[in-house]
Amino acid sequence: MSPCSAVTIGCWASDRETTCPTSLADYNGGMIDAGSRTVHLPTPDATTALAVTLAEVVKPGDVFLLSGPIGAGKTHFARSLIQSHLSRNGQPVEDVPSPTFTLVQTYASGGHEIWHADLYRLTHPDEVEELGLIDAFDTAICLVEWPDRLGDSGPSNAVRINFRQGDNDDGRIAEIEGLPPHLTHTLGRFQHVWS
Ligand SMILES: Nc1ncnc2c1ncn2[C@@H]1O[C@H](COP(=O)(O)OP(=O)(O)OP(=O)(O)O)[C@@H](O)[C@H]1O
Ligand SMILES: [Mg+2]
Repeated sequence: MSPCSAVTIGCWASDRETTCPTSLADYNGGMIDAGSRTVHLPTPDATTALAVTLAEVVKPGDVFLLSGPIGAGKTHFARSLIQSHLSRNGQPVEDVPSPTFTLVQTYASGGHEIWHADLYRLTHPDEVEELGLIDAFDTAICLVEWPDRLGDSGPSNAVRINFRQGDNDDGRIAEIEGLPPHLTHTLGRFQHVWS
């Protein structure tokens, strides 16, 4: 088993490489696509840890498009990120329900807005504009479940995370693409801590 095929949090491989990078310099050396990771998440807590790590550095304009089948862990990830952000900013930690029926839930945290959207029940891509989501992509931290409903409205600079089933019941695999440098750097620290 190569180091990166181990089912353990914080171990990842790009689609083109199977060996774990040892430092950020490896990412930048051209061996590995710096904006792309595959992360093994053996438990719900591992998914929470990934979200908590990203919550440290997310900023307005960061958009996470969360895909994967029903029960894949999209809401679990979004809830963890939002609760961690609220906690870091000394605010009461809310329940963070799934926005299945409201389509959008917004949170104020650290002087920023966080938008959590579940577009599963969207009936037409035009509703995205009506929800105010297009503007929020520029001004807020956005977490969007079922982003295929966006049609062509998804921002090109979004971070795309696809969750799929792992090797066991509680295992998930997150395929992450489009990481901007500030998030790539944070995940580098994440690997150091967890691998
Ligand atoms: N490794 C894991 N990561 C995340 N969730 C996990 C994991 N293992 C088990 N789970 C469980 O899987 C469920 C994921 O539910 P969640 O609501 O997050 O799914 P979802 O992708 O948002 O589904 P939907 O498309 O219905 O919105 C939760 O009950 C969670 O505890
Ligand atoms: Mg959900």
